[in-house]
Amino acid sequence: MTAEIAPSHPKSRVLTAPDIAAAKGNDCPLVMVTAYDAPSARVVDHAGVDMILVGDTLAMVVLGYDDTLQVTTDDMAHHVGAVARTKPRALIVGDLPWMSYHVSREETVRNAAQLIRAGAGAVKLEGGRKRLEAITAILDSEIPVMGHLGLTPQSIHAIGGFKVQGKQLDAARRIVDDAVALAEAGCFAIVLECVPDGVARMVTDAISVPTIGIGAGRHCDGQVLVYHDLLGFEDRIRPRFVRRYAELGADATAAVARFVHDVRVGTFPSSDETYHMTDQLDDAMDLYAVDVTTDGQGEPAAGSRASSSGMSVTPPG
Ligand code: KIV
Repeated sequence: MTAEIAPSHPKSRVLTAPDIAAAKGNDCPLVMVTAYDAPSARVVDHAGVDMILVGDTLAMVVLGYDDTLQVTTDDMAHHVGAVARTKPRALIVGDLPWMSYHVSREETVRNAAQLIRAGAGAVKLEGGRKRLEAITAILDSEIPVMGHLGLTPQSIHAIGGFKVQGKQLDAARRIVDDAVALAEAGCFAIVLECVPDGVARMVTDAISVPTIGIGAGRHCDGQVLVYHDLLGFEDRIRPRFVRRYAELGADATAAVARFVHDVRVGTFPSSDETYHMTDQLDDAMDLYAVDVTTDGQGEPAAGSRASSSGMSVTPPG
């Protein structure tokens, strides 16, 4: 499948953080979608996204936790690796999980490097000026960093829930100042999550690198959505900013329910979905009562379940 709409970025080679930074001000907005495994990575890359975010939303939409605080750098690297093995054209951004960049400079750099070694082309971390030391340490190790401001889900206990940020003047100013500081420090792009569109516009105008919005309105240089939200797999939280482009969760349940039904009423498998013996072999087996799990020379028959289970079925002679 190829994208029906021209990608935001015309390059045919693998996209890099500098390509994304250089797209600031382009007419065509940047697009980022999350993915956590090989099938979802193939889907979003073939759809033409510019960036694949292996987000720590992994904890919620894949692993079933209530927040993003439960994943480790090892978890994130495991999923970055799965995405990277599909060799996408899009830039892979690996999300640094909570506590992976809060303890020390050394740990921060080691954790960022683990995601790069797993196949990411950049890392993302949450927070404003108080994260500048971590950001600088990672940048000094030649690893591109994407910032994340506004609603930062790793701070959920400190901010009191998944709430829109920057609604008051002071808070709005803090977000703009944080964004300027992150861009000046060298972040190649900044995610703005759940802020009023006026705040997103101020940030977008104030910095020289792209803003990527989620629940931040249209005045951003790009947009990001979570794969399971946009495809209709996630029902526990349905934020207003999510547009669902499919109902794959409901479609998948209906499809599996049809399989359950077909097995129970005996219409699956059909004759076409079954391997049949040749008449000759049929006759020979009747004659010599050959074990159906072998090819007659003691080797397991191709496709035979018995070949993997060790089960032996000898028809009555
Ligand atoms: O982890 C994630 O999926 C994110 C997006 C919501 C931007 O950070």
